[in-house]
Amino acid sequence: MSSRFDHFAELPASRSQAPKEFDAHPARGRFNSAFFWAMGGYINWHMRKGKANVFSDLPSTVVEIGPGVGANMRYLSAKSRLIAVEPNPYMHPRLQRAARASGVDLQIRSVVAERIDLPDASADAVISSLVLCSVRDPDLVLAEIRRILRPGGRFSFTEHVAAKRGTPTRWTQRLLRRPWAWVFEGCSCERDLENAIQSAGFTAIVLDHYRIHSPFLPFNTHIAGTVIA
Ligand SMILES: C[S@@+](CC[C@H](N)C(=O)[O-])C[C@H]1O[C@@H](n2cnc3c(N)ncnc32)[C@H](O)[C@@H]1O
Repeated sequence: MSSRFDHFAELPASRSQAPKEFDAHPARGRFNSAFFWAMGGYINWHMRKGKANVFSDLPSTVVEIGPGVGANMRYLSAKSRLIAVEPNPYMHPRLQRAARASGVDLQIRSVVAERIDLPDASADAVISSLVLCSVRDPDLVLAEIRRILRPGGRFSFTEHVAAKRGTPTRWTQRLLRRPWAWVFEGCSCERDLENAIQSAGFTAIVLDHYRIHSPFLPFNTHIAGTVIA
């Protein structure tokens, strides 16, 4: 069966093609791949309510930005197709193994989400978790997501965000911002992603705040939602 994504299938994704906009650090790239593989079950357990709300009823072809090692594969049905926009080559082998284990047809696009190599209005659904904190330009990424979604298509996400000003969580996010970003390859715990998503030009927005209770205090304030292109 052919689909509108087939003309991208022949483009191989490999380490040598890692995009210039993404500097995959050999040590931190490997560490993050191993960290999200080892901690995936724990993180997913904390985020399970947010994810169950927004990642239900996904269509048979989904574009995911920054899927990492495949934390959200469990929300796809077997035989569905995942177009994975993942510039970090150190994530790819584990992502491929997760797709094989779930029976998901995986296509890795080794590009940054600021410059997605998919046509306008070609996707029914885009998903993300814990990615808009890490991309260099969240506004540009949101514009790209809107561009590739067909009119009426959905972007479903669950992301960690800046806590309210003046709270102990916010102080901790400020205090730890530099080592946190260093370890987690540019991740910021201080982003107002709710405002960014609301300003991105989507037509309908459903968005919830939730708090998880992990020892990683800067990471505990989250939003989850779905917006329509
Ligand atoms: C914190 S990890 C989250 C991985 C996965 N979504 C999860 O929930 O476990 C952030 C992911 O975003 C990816 N990433 C970072 N910058 C990106 C960009 N500009 N475009 C697309 N993905 C990016 C990283 O390579 C990594 O896989």
